[in-house]
Parts: sequence; structure tokens; C-alpha cells
Amino acid sequence: MHDFTLDIQQHINKPLEEDRQGEVLNAAQTIENANGKHFYIESYGCQMNFNDSEIVASILHKNGFALTRDCNNADLILLNTCSIREKAEDRIRNRLRTLNKIKAQRPGTLIGILGCMAERLKKKLLEQEQIVDIVVGPDAYRDLPSLVSEADTGQKAVNVLLSREETYGDINPVRLDNTGVTAFVSIMRGCDNMCSFCVVPFTRGRERSRNAFSIIAEVQDLLAKGYKEVTLLGQNVDSYKWENPENKQIVNFANLLEMVALTSTQLRVRFSTSHPKDITDEVLHTMNKYENICNYIHLPVQSGSSRILKKMNRTYDREWYKERVDAIRRIIPNCAISTDVITGFCSETDEDHQDTLSMQRYVKYEMAYMFAYSERPGTLAARKYEDDVPLAVKKQRLQEVIAQQQIHSLERNQADVGKTFKVLIEKESKRSADDLCGRTDQNKMVIFPRGNHQKGEYVQVLIESCTSASMKGRVV
Ligand code: SAH
Ligand code: SF4
Ligand code: F3S
Repeated sequence: MHDFTLDIQQHINKPLEEDRQGEVLNAAQTIENANGKHFYIESYGCQMNFNDSEIVASILHKNGFALTRDCNNADLILLNTCSIREKAEDRIRNRLRTLNKIKAQRPGTLIGILGCMAERLKKKLLEQEQIVDIVVGPDAYRDLPSLVSEADTGQKAVNVLLSREETYGDINPVRLDNTGVTAFVSIMRGCDNMCSFCVVPFTRGRERSRNAFSIIAEVQDLLAKGYKEVTLLGQNVDSYKWENPENKQIVNFANLLEMVALTSTQLRVRFSTSHPKDITDEVLHTMNKYENICNYIHLPVQSGSSRILKKMNRTYDREWYKERVDAIRRIIPNCAISTDVITGFCSETDEDHQDTLSMQRYVKYEMAYMFAYSERPGTLAARKYEDDVPLAVKKQRLQEVIAQQQIHSLERNQADVGKTFKVLIEKESKRSADDLCGRTDQNKMVIFPRGNHQKGEYVQVLIESCTSASMKGRVV
């Protein structure tokens, strides 16, 4: 059986939101089909990967491919993959085996692997394991149409070159989820942080920021199409920095946030992920200044122990992190904070673990994604430190962190019962067609009876009940 506790992100407080891993992307729109070929795409991993699939869809669309939701009808099957933990890769390998069975029945079908696992394993899946026909790294998607042509003639089609410049800034992503209300906008790519546990700098390459004007143009285009919320994406949004070549002016993340917020008061603005070492008071003041920038910050702590944080190369310590949380509380009243936690990192003692639990109590996070440490080949930790915390201990500590988070999530939700929140309606509730759901400014999902309301509307919802995982209410 799949061990969800160890691998899949723990959506504490948010199980109503889809687990986006492995979600099949659908396009509501019909897409022109100039070359008669159909592609199918599945995405795994983080939001940036989901957004990349939309860029890939745009590139393929321009080259005459049409999207299909059914992999049995596809000429080209693509998996956009994640390498963050070992189990994430295991899952993709299993999926590739299943897809190869489909291919056996439909000769001529091509299977392509995109994203972080493609970058990490390079030719291995094509040459040694022979379970894919095409391998494309995150910076080589423009090359996909020609790689498909190569693969069609039976050649090995691989491009895993990383770039220092590629941001796909000029490509307007084909929106693949069909809510039409919320969208992701990538503002940067790569990561220069080198946290010792993390594979991302190796799979995504150097950090680079996208042209601010192209970001604003994309946001305006979304607005014109009726979207009501954008989430600005980057591995470390606070280090966004773009120089306008015309006047040499620097646009930092606070400036960009302001530019996006000013496009329309009707547009909600979110962002992810903030790095505790880089989040500035300037960003916090900008958030406070604009009503449409949501009061929600995802601020991954990873560990509450300064000794472990040092080994993780996070470059902040426990005191620094607490000070940043204090600053958030001081500058933005009612700001929700969520986090990521890793249990059982190299050499973690019970005392270090207790520091993580006490950090959770200090912040009382609204929500958390919690993981047991999974060693990744080639990372600093894999090379320098021994993965010496036994699996059972990692799991036990993870359970303790999860259990405590559940209590905090419940308390945080209970504190909202009886209050009224502005909610942006996103979609029909999965459980009942009579209900709609949407998020509060603080990113909490709320379910309420449909009435005469529709997705894309803002409504005031009175919260009437909750669990640790959800809130229910009615429109007032
Ligand atoms: N850029 C973000 C994190 C992206 S990865 C940041 O710096 O916060 C998302 C989360 O996966 C990380 O925050 C971390 O908690 C987790 N993660 C990354 N590598 C991991 C590993 N080797 N084992 C377990 N969890 C890991
Ligand atoms: Fe990985 Fe650290 Fe970069 Fe986040 S900031 S992507 S954890 S290296
Ligand atoms: Fe996974 Fe790559 Fe994102 S490793 S978490 S898909 S950047």
C-alpha cells in the first residue's frame, strides 16, 4: 500500500482542495488541430510544474497539436515530473510502466518525460530503462516540437540543457484547469539557495527573474478573460529582481507585487513561496497597503532547531525565523501563515525534534505540509551527511508533527466560526452539486449552499461550523 504519510504532502486543513499531484489537466477550450495529432499531459509536483505544463500546452498548440483528456487517444503522452522525494519518482516510474502497456497496443504513440525527473536522470530512462521516447528538461520546452519529430523517425530525442536566461516570458500559457477563476503566473525560475536536502537547484538550474512587463501583460490578459485571482510563483519569490533595460531601474518583489495589485482592485493576488531569510518588511507593508493582496504567507520553516537549520543550509536560525513571524504579526493583522516541515533530517535528535514542535506552538500555523526526510542523490546532504535517523523514527516524529498541526488547524478554524469572510467562489464542491466552495483572504477553503451564486463572484460568507480540515457557512 502507498505510504501517504511519508510521501504525499499532508494537506492538513485543506483536504477539500485537490491533491494536485497527478491530477490530469483538462482544457475546457477546444484547441485547433493543424497536424492532426493529439497530446495528453499529466503533471506531478509543485505549482510551478503545473504552470510549466500550461506553457508546454501553449508551445504544442502553436505547433498544431490538440489536447486530449484521454491518454488512450493520444499520439503523444507527456508526464511532467517531480523529483523532490524518492516516492515521487517511484510513483512516476509506476505510471510509466502502465503507459507503456497502452503504447504496446497503439504502436506509434510516443511517451515523453518532462520536468525535474527528466533533468535529474537525463538519458537514463531512455537508454537504460527504455521506458520513454523523449526526455525534456524544464528549460528546453521550446524544443519539444522538433524533439517529437525526431522521435517520430525513431531517433533518441533528448534535451536537458539548463539555461541562465529562459523564463518563457513571451509564452501565454494555455490554462489547463477549467475553473476560469484562479491562475498561476510564474515570475521566476530556478533556485540558487542550495538547501542541503533539496534537489531543485539541480533540476531547475540557476535562479532568474522574468521581465516584469511580461508578467503584468499576462495578468491583464487573465483579467480580460474573467479571472479573479493570480498566484505569483517562484521557489523564492522574495529574491525576485528584474532590471528594466531601458532605464536600468530595478523591480524587486515588493515593487512587482504592487504593480500586480494595481492592475485591478477586483483581482486577488497571492504568491508562493517566501523564504524566511529574504522576506522583507517592505513586502509586508505592501501586502498591508493593498486590500487585494491576500493576507496569507507560506513560510517554510523546515525545522525549529538552529543546529539542523544550519546543516540544512537554510541560512536563518530559530531566532531569525521567530522575528520574521513577529514582523508579520506586527505589520499585517490577521495574516495566516502556513509552513513546510521535514522530520528526521541527518543527525536530528529528539531535542531538535522538540524544537520543531515548540516552533509549531509558537506560530500556530493555519496549515502545514509535512514530510519525512528523503535523501536525494547528488544533493549536499547526500554527499556530506549520513542519513542516520531510522525510518521508524522519522515516521514517528512526522506523526507527532501532524497530530499537533491538526490541533492548531482546528483551533485556527474554530476561531473563525461566527465571523464573516469575503470569499471568492472557485467551483462546485466535490461532495455536493448543491454546494459551492471558495477561499477566504487567508486561503481557507469554505463550503456553502449554492443559492443563486456562481463561480468567479465574491460573496460574504458567515462561518457556521468547522473541523480541522474544513469550514462550512452560508452567504449573508
Ligand atoms: N522553495 C521552497 C520549497 C520547495 S520544495 C522553499 O524553499 O521553501 C517543497 C518542500 O518539500 C520543501 O519546503 C521541503 O519541506 C520539502 N522537501 C524538499 N526536499 C525534501 C527532501 N529531500 N525530503 C523531504 N522533504 C523535502
Ligand atoms: Fe530547494 Fe531551498 Fe531552493 Fe526551496 S529554497 S527550492 S528548499 S534549495
Ligand atoms: Fe518537484 Fe521539481 Fe517542483 S522537484 S517540487 S516539480 S521544482
